[in-house]
Amino acid sequence: MENIFEVKHPILKSLVTELRNIKTESYVFRKTLNEIARILFIEALKNEKLTEKEVEIWIGTGKFPTLIEEKYVFIPILRAGLPMLGGLFEVLKNAQAGFLALKRNEETLESVLYYNRVPPLEGKTAILLDPMVATGGSLDYAIKVVKEKNPERIISLNVVGAPEGLSKISKNHPDIKLYIAQIDEGLNDKGYIIPGIGDAGDRAFNTE
Ligand code: PRP
Ligand code: URA
Repeated sequence: MENIFEVKHPILKSLVTELRNIKTESYVFRKTLNEIARILFIEALKNEKLTEKEVEIWIGTGKFPTLIEEKYVFIPILRAGLPMLGGLFEVLKNAQAGFLALKRNEETLESVLYYNRVPPLEGKTAILLDPMVATGGSLDYAIKVVKEKNPERIISLNVVGAPEGLSKISKNHPDIKLYIAQIDEGLNDKGYIIPGIGDAGDRAFNTE
């Protein structure tokens, strides 16, 4: 799994524990996903190339390094990926966003796409956001949809994953990079991550 990076920062581990805690209420759960996404994004861009931009500063004008913010397109996978979006816009306020909605059929574990509003991606860096990689079916589907739009590259930011799903993504998509806060033990017979954080969409939006 050479393209899967588990980010081993103590703050991330502590935030994941907050998510695991069943007493963590919806509002805090969303805030925590938001903060984790921000940290993962900063890590993912650690070696990013910068461009020189002319800026007027207090002693005149000069050229200074900057990211081209418009090049980044954040794509949360609804529902559970939505709370991760705000954290990324806090980092790059002029980035773009697109939306994909997928729902896993809890009997067959097959994912169904029910909303697709992604802008043109040629020349862009697409950043997929989904807290959970369980069987990997939803993320695999989302990556295929995004690839049809020919982005320059794809990065996936995820919070908790099972080795089964992550190795599927690594095998099917060796050309993407995936940053994750925690690789857990595995899946139970219903396709839930163990120990995991439960149903992330329900916990984020206070539904059963
Ligand atoms: C969850 C999660 C992932 C998917 C992971 O979404 O947010 O998208 O399951 O499972 P997989 O790796 O086995 O496909 P869910 O389908 O429950 O929808 P929701 O976000 O609306 O709750
Ligand atoms: N989706 C979730 O929200 N949690 C899991 O553990 C698996 C799929």
